[in-house]
Amino acid sequence: MPLSAVTALQALRDTGRVRAGQRVLVIGAAGGAGTFAVQLGKALGAHVTGVCSTTKTDLVRALGTDEVLDCTREDYADGSRRFDLVVDTAGNAPLARLRRALTRRGTLVLDGEEGGGRWFGGTDRVLRALLLSPFVGQRLCGLISAERGEDLESLKELIEAGGVTPVVDRAYRLSELPEAIRYLRESGARGKVVVTM
Ligand SMILES: NC(=O)c1ccc[n+]([C@@H]2O[C@H](COP(=O)([O-])OP(=O)(O)OC[C@H]3O[C@@H](n4cnc5c(N)ncnc54)[C@H](OP(=O)(O)O)[C@@H]3O)[C@@H](O)[C@H]2O)c1
Repeated sequence: MPLSAVTALQALRDTGRVRAGQRVLVIGAAGGAGTFAVQLGKALGAHVTGVCSTTKTDLVRALGTDEVLDCTREDYADGSRRFDLVVDTAGNAPLARLRRALTRRGTLVLDGEEGGGRWFGGTDRVLRALLLSPFVGQRLCGLISAERGEDLESLKELIEAGGVTPVVDRAYRLSELPEAIRYLRESGARGKVVVTM
């Protein structure tokens, strides 16, 4: 929670400034941050679409997501849907592609980068977004989440009220840590993997 849930909350509420009724797209919806983001989007009153791979669509649907797109079969940027807010937690999709999924005044929040170039490891995408943003109608933002007590309090209340449920794929003992890391790297966990200490 202190990292994934807080990141999702700050991406939607603070950087994304989501309002009730808006259409939100979460890319990487089955991941650690994504599973929180789709649920928080719903809790904040948005219409939420999640993007994930085939085997995880059931999970993302079960989280209350309004629409689930299988990234191997459906293209969120084909122009058939436009979103007020896109939260990207996955991959390194080009900015132009992400912008095609936005409304003319929509907001893009770049939460994570997977892969990327030799020099910048993908962070150049955030730099380009920040440079481009003042010149286009859309708001293009990066995110560096900050741990804040009041955010954890809000999340605790939401979880206790049943509005948000942390998704735990597997739990490992500390002595099984190498196996847990291997599972994370090779299998692509659904939500989070927990190590109990
Ligand atoms: N900005 C911040 O302050 C902050 C804070 C925390 C985390 N992060 C970053 O946020 C990102 C997500 O973190 P996480 O803990 O949610 O990771 P995660 O649990 O590994 O989830 C990432 C999801 O992305 C999808 N994915 C991975 N590679 C992809 C690719 N090449 N193309 C499309 N989808 C891909 C996977 O979904 P499928 O298997 O369904 O494809 C996976 O469920 C990471 O880059 C992390 O470093 C940033």
